[in-house]
Amino acid sequence: MPSSQAGRRNAIAFCGILALTAGLSPARAEDVEAGAALASEHCARCHVIGDGRTLNGIGSTPSFPGLVNNLDDWQERFSTFFARPPHPAFVRLDGVEPPTPLPPSASPVVLTPMETEAIFRYVESLKRD
Ligand code: HEC
Repeated sequence: MPSSQAGRRNAIAFCGILALTAGLSPARAEDVEAGAALASEHCARCHVIGDGRTLNGIGSTPSFPGLVNNLDDWQERFSTFFARPPHPAFVRLDGVEPPTPLPPSASPVVLTPMETEAIFRYVESLKRD
């Protein structure tokens, strides 16, 4: 990857972390609910997301409950997922210049920062104690 592209990817990831930590208030039920709907709409075509359906998703794609409950750094992964492959090829953040001028490689997902936070809140709710 050319370094300018890596730099931009880091910048985007950084903005995402800022957007998430800036508004970190205790999880609200509305956010979790909105996040569940967004994840169902945008993520469930590849991921098992934790809505009880286990036969959707693509076999090689990690499930959300699996990521949240098995990985210590799940928060970082979910707050920067849009900068992590394969997502930059099809996820667009509203108001942020795409990381690549190429057309999306899969049906595009467009999210606002508030929507990415809602998804984060939903994923957080999948964590077992
Ligand atoms: C077109 C298919 C597709 C869609 C849609 C998709 N993902 Fe993914 N996602 C993947 C694949 C494939 C991987 C595994 C990448 C790997 O392990 O290299 C992945 C991995 C992840 C990871 C783990 C990243 C890491 O570096 O460990 C997170 C977090 C994630 N996805 C979040 C999301 C969220 C949130 C959405 C919805 C807004 C979403 N994904 C939508 C295909 C998709």
